[in-house]
Amino acid sequence: CGIIGIVGNAGVAPLLVDALKRLEYRGYDSAGVATLEGGVLTRRRAEGKLRNLEALLDKDPLAGRIGIGHTRWATHGAPTVTNAHPHQSGRVCVVHNGIIENYLELRAEAAAAGLFPVSDTDTEVVALMTDLALRGGLSPVDAVAAVLPRLKGAFSLVFLFEGEEDLLVGARQGSPLAVGHGDGEMFLGSDAIALSPFTDRITYLEEGDWVVLSRQGCVIRDRSNAQVQRPESRSAIGAAMIDKGNYRHFMAKEIHEQPEVIGHTLSRYLDLAARKAKVPDGMAVDFSGLTRLVMSACGTAYYAGLVGKYWFEKYARLPVEIDIASEFRYRELPVNPGEMALFISQSGETADTLASLRYCKAAGLTIGAVVNVPESTIAREADLVFPTIAGPEIGVASTKAFTCQLSVLASLAILAGRQRGVLTADQEAELVGALSEVPGLALKALALEARIEKLAPGLSRASDVLYLGRSTSYPLALEGALKLKELSYIHAEGYAAGELKHGPIALIDENLPVIVIAPHDAIYEKTVSNMQEVAARGGRILLITDEKGAEASGLADRDRILMPALSEIVAPIIYSIPIQLIAYHVAVFMGTDVDQPRNLAKSVTVE
Ligand code: G6P
Repeated sequence: CGIIGIVGNAGVAPLLVDALKRLEYRGYDSAGVATLEGGVLTRRRAEGKLRNLEALLDKDPLAGRIGIGHTRWATHGAPTVTNAHPHQSGRVCVVHNGIIENYLELRAEAAAAGLFPVSDTDTEVVALMTDLALRGGLSPVDAVAAVLPRLKGAFSLVFLFEGEEDLLVGARQGSPLAVGHGDGEMFLGSDAIALSPFTDRITYLEEGDWVVLSRQGCVIRDRSNAQVQRPESRSAIGAAMIDKGNYRHFMAKEIHEQPEVIGHTLSRYLDLAARKAKVPDGMAVDFSGLTRLVMSACGTAYYAGLVGKYWFEKYARLPVEIDIASEFRYRELPVNPGEMALFISQSGETADTLASLRYCKAAGLTIGAVVNVPESTIAREADLVFPTIAGPEIGVASTKAFTCQLSVLASLAILAGRQRGVLTADQEAELVGALSEVPGLALKALALEARIEKLAPGLSRASDVLYLGRSTSYPLALEGALKLKELSYIHAEGYAAGELKHGPIALIDENLPVIVIAPHDAIYEKTVSNMQEVAARGGRILLITDEKGAEASGLADRDRILMPALSEIVAPIIYSIPIQLIAYHVAVFMGTDVDQPRNLAKSVTVE
């Protein structure tokens, strides 16, 4: 969810909506705002996308110079108006991101005192408990101070009180919250992007902090209620609304930005004159004595890590343990000194990835993080930050962040290979040279778009699609299937091609498209054998390969997508592009919401 609060000087409702637009990537099941109209708490809430709330506000505007807003990704309770934030009880309204784990217990406590919820949310209990404290005679600030220690779970909150024209209270425990400093006005928001139209002066709250905001400034207290100073920084995010340019969707724009942003990213990690891999200026990393690299991430970032595993093991002989973060954090994986941990996250806020980071940090490992948002929590808690320079990614389905993550991981694997004495200078130079060609090759892959668009109608008729690949193409098969299902809602699965015969081959019939990702590499022949097993059973094959692979496949033109010939380290980065384009065009053909697929959110700050 995304949250915003403004103590301003003019009508805040349009400003709240503007901020929510920038936060919609955090969820879009419902949205709402509350302001003080003549001192009285007044709300407008709407189901579905933000535009519904905007339409409501057009018809029925909301006055007031102070207010809070929310865009929701439902956890507890369906995305209805009643469950939409802000939640109110008596003289307090609250917006919330995260989960209140002990809400049932607190709800019973409020009920015993005569206050009952009207929604199914966990959030409402915060309003009820605060209302109870106010009724008990506490001031608004004291009421929040009394309620916060009672809440279990990960959350960020903003409170607005009836009759309090110069007061917002915010709290951060496990979900991000930032203070924006204005001139005679102050802001609270889930991230600096939300605050960018208003100010670039940002203070990030630390875990356990809570803040009292007025037009004149803010007072921050830590968990023990001691007043603390947190640094103010300048956010580099421009105020201009991130827009789609000439593209129909953010996803299309982001797919097409890849040559450029991969170029930006690689320029930090490759020294082309010396033909060596490096880390960004001012950083130092030493892979030489490591016994193991432990990696974790979620979703698409996890698949980037999985490709990285092949690279670190092959080019640096560095064993890698990798798992999805929601499993990793609870596995009680034994970790030892002499290992390094590496986390991958576009947003830098994903709750499970952050928890996995903290697990490894507590165990004393050096923490590296490949992140796209340098101000994010994961970036701030890591010892070594490896930035991807993808720029803001708005489409919920990750594209350019993924290929930038791959570019960073490939560079780090080469660096590790040198440091560990595995790669000779010549081998390193060759790999670096290959990587330096990625931006140009990405452009070539994008030229396949018209061809791929033509395949969309056929694929859109399938109820299931299988993706197959071996080696680094195996994580790409997983990513291809993820992309297709999240965008088009067609069921898809990715399999290691060699595993096909152990079960999924039973699914093959003439209705099941099978997308085979197979550059002509050392194990190409093996993948082709698996493909023949599909053909022998009448399966519909679409092979993504290069000229040599196409020749050896015996398939007709219409059944293949012809890629440029690529060196091995480059292939997974470039093969990502047709995979993204397939999912994109199937979704566009089917008319689904490409940038904001149903039920998803871009940044998931709950477990
Ligand atoms: C969400 C997004 C995915 C993303 C995953 C991890 O599920 O919808 O696109 O891959 O979170 O996000 P992160 O920000 O940690 O890369």
